[in-house]
Amino acid sequence: MTLIWRHLLRPLCLVTSAPRILEMHPFLSLGTSRTSVTKLSLHTKPRMPPCDFMPERYQVIFLVNSGSEANELAMLMARAHSNNIDIISFRGAYHGCSPYTLGLTNVGTYKMELPGGTGCQPTMCPDVFRGPWGGSHCRDSPVQTIRKCSCAPDCCQAKDQYIEQFKDTLSTSVAKSIAGFFAEPIQGVNGVVQYPKGFLKEAFELVRARGGVCIADEVQTGFGRLGSHFWGFQTHDVLPDIVTMAKGIGNGFPMAAVITTPEIAKSLAKCLQHFNTFGGNPMACAIGSAVLEVIKEENLQENSQEVGTYMLLKFAKLRDEFEIVGDVRGKGLMIGIEMVQDKISCRPLPREEVNQIHEDCKHMGLLVGRGSIFSQTFRIAPSMCITKPEVDFAVEVFRSALTQHMERRAK
Ligand SMILES: Cc1ncc(COP(=O)(O)O)c(C=O)c1O
Repeated sequence: MTLIWRHLLRPLCLVTSAPRILEMHPFLSLGTSRTSVTKLSLHTKPRMPPCDFMPERYQVIFLVNSGSEANELAMLMARAHSNNIDIISFRGAYHGCSPYTLGLTNVGTYKMELPGGTGCQPTMCPDVFRGPWGGSHCRDSPVQTIRKCSCAPDCCQAKDQYIEQFKDTLSTSVAKSIAGFFAEPIQGVNGVVQYPKGFLKEAFELVRARGGVCIADEVQTGFGRLGSHFWGFQTHDVLPDIVTMAKGIGNGFPMAAVITTPEIAKSLAKCLQHFNTFGGNPMACAIGSAVLEVIKEENLQENSQEVGTYMLLKFAKLRDEFEIVGDVRGKGLMIGIEMVQDKISCRPLPREEVNQIHEDCKHMGLLVGRGSIFSQTFRIAPSMCITKPEVDFAVEVFRSALTQHMERRAK
């Protein structure tokens, strides 16, 4: 087959790494010089004024340098506020690679033969495609699983089953009183896994009844990427007690934040005089402010919604066309394409085969990410300024790679 894409000067990059918002926007490189001295001195204060983009209750912002550091601080806050130790997170969750957060991260590659991250307990991930339950209305997405169910649109038996599992964790694996529960609104590293609608709301109530606080890790989902809302937690109709964010906040610059209520911040202050040399440095703040302005001025959240939905629906058509595309899921510009051996068994397509498809995409000028336990899911989270013609290109390349793969299989 002729690789007509080769004339491209550079590949189209749809991977989850930075830069998250834009490719290279001139406005961002101007960020520092555009920021006035007054604004800079404001930003170097440890407490920032409430950010326009957050609901009123989160009045305290701690600026740090990475997502892992933000989650470490959130863990400490949860424990300081609750006076408890145990923290629950989902299997498949990725919350960081630092000694403390490795306890929350439940991905095999990050589990080691060394002690670390004590007091963390995994619970079943309510994955409506690969998990034991899930049907045709579970997800907040224009694309549902190929599994059928008999639930009415406003009830979800899968959600109820997964909540029973969550209760089971609460009654078997943690102390009576817990410190908290961490969740990504959509799991990123685990292959863009979405939970059934209503799950987080009920889980949050159960956690609070045990004295714990609820933490949303918005490192991948925040800043308008999901299109319909600025924050992923809003898509679940919940208000977490702590929100952590990184990646998109600085469009590739090392910056992260933890946002919480004054009560929780006070509990932390009783235990720790929080200090961070580089967190909230003037350069990071100038870039963070520029990012927020660009998102607003260039309607990037709306772009995520429109172009993301366009892309999701186009990839969903490939699922109907190809037996090896088992699931297409996601929201806005966070999309997962899970590869299977066939749609009946839904066993993961072997890694070597997914590698070949991945390589073919790369040779045709398309960079995508990978995720899930067996690395069987392609992850797509491009810059939020992506256009429909770029999506058309990406989908055509992906289609060609799948066709080539089916031809190889048939030989
Ligand atoms: C959901 C989530 N949380 C936390 C982190 C850790 O962020 P960092 O790599 O900035 O430490 C990541 C990184 O990929 C992530 O995806």
